[in-house]
Amino acid sequence: MIKITNVLTPNGDRQDFTFVSKNEKNIDGTKLLALPGLIDPHVHFRVPGMEDKEDWVHGSRASFKGGYTTVFDMPNTKPTTTTKERLHDKFSIINKQIAESKLPMRYKLFFGADKNNFQEIVKVKDEIVGIKVFMGASTGELLMDDESSLHAVYAIAAKFNLLIALHAEDELIIQQNTKKYENETDFKYHSIIREPKAAVKAVELVIKLSRIYGVRSYILHLSTKEELDLVRAAKKEGVMVYAETCPHYLFLDDSVYDKLYGFAKMNPPLRNRIEQQHIWDAINDGTIDTIGSDHAPHTLEQKNQPLCKCPSGVPGIETSLPLMLSAYKKDLLNLKTLISLMHDNPKKMFNLDNNDDIVFANIEDYHPLTNEQLCTKVKWSPYTGMNLTGYPEYLYTQGEFYFLDEIKS
Ligand code: DOR
Ligand code: ZN
Repeated sequence: MIKITNVLTPNGDRQDFTFVSKNEKNIDGTKLLALPGLIDPHVHFRVPGMEDKEDWVHGSRASFKGGYTTVFDMPNTKPTTTTKERLHDKFSIINKQIAESKLPMRYKLFFGADKNNFQEIVKVKDEIVGIKVFMGASTGELLMDDESSLHAVYAIAAKFNLLIALHAEDELIIQQNTKKYENETDFKYHSIIREPKAAVKAVELVIKLSRIYGVRSYILHLSTKEELDLVRAAKKEGVMVYAETCPHYLFLDDSVYDKLYGFAKMNPPLRNRIEQQHIWDAINDGTIDTIGSDHAPHTLEQKNQPLCKCPSGVPGIETSLPLMLSAYKKDLLNLKTLISLMHDNPKKMFNLDNNDDIVFANIEDYHPLTNEQLCTKVKWSPYTGMNLTGYPEYLYTQGEFYFLDEIKS
């Protein structure tokens, strides 16, 4: 039997928890907060084809260490997850790797839409959590940058009541700016090339499509005020849009390129502090529905390249909760909002089954984040050195109690 006493719960009272276990242990929970096992609706665990960056053995460990028991993985793999056969291959590789990790991750997969695979979407419609569309190119080959394909995929989603998750950045604007600034080497040009206008234009189109087809659009990684204003207005009008932001837009801004170079390069890019404040406002007024980590690792070697070669993306699943709980301790949001963003809203939006997963995070002690503590395969984080609290210490899922300090990479 494992007993944890005097744990803080989200409604402010203190509670004791007991779990059936072959181990016998009494834990003082005075510094701990109990939360539901978190849901990350946006990760890139890189299988198949990019296992140098991540896999599900490391990804599962990193998820548990981060307090997550459920993740949804993206289809920009090698090859892309765009046919029924590839989807089934991906399920079987993932299941093997999860078994190897000995951590029972719950997961679902997004299916990629390209301009030619509409029949495949129909074949897999009951096996996927939604369709992923890249309106602007990012890591991998997936791209749907023409309006007629977008109409076609929305028509299919409407017919089968599927949700569409969108990387909303306008490809034409990005390409024009890439040409204009092709000789620039300073990483801050990444934010200029993928300027806010590119995101805003794509979000406008998404809202229009959702309105026409009555389809649920899940707009990923929102990063600017103008996008958030559009989403706010669309929600008011009754258009079915959901909004995600990511920790990097809340805790980093475009001043960090001077220190982090390519390690701060992601798509959409970091914005300025004024935009950042607007994202916090949208968190607190309920415009934003979810926090996705957009855990998108690349190796140190890949990230150390110059601007034009450096791939976009940062790891994040191990740091999202400590960052958000550290923000809670600074009164940047309340616990109810944090739990809505990281559990309740994704559970509702994606109609997930109930479970009794619990994570216990220490919200009293602070320590600087180190690369050594990370379980992600790439062993770096843009937040390394930040003094944080809120690191998970214990996790309960599917009948088992886990001591997270025993999970090592
Ligand atoms: O920064 C990003 N990295 N944005 C994306 O859209 C894709 C992701 C990745 O897969 O590397
Ligand atoms: Zn992503």
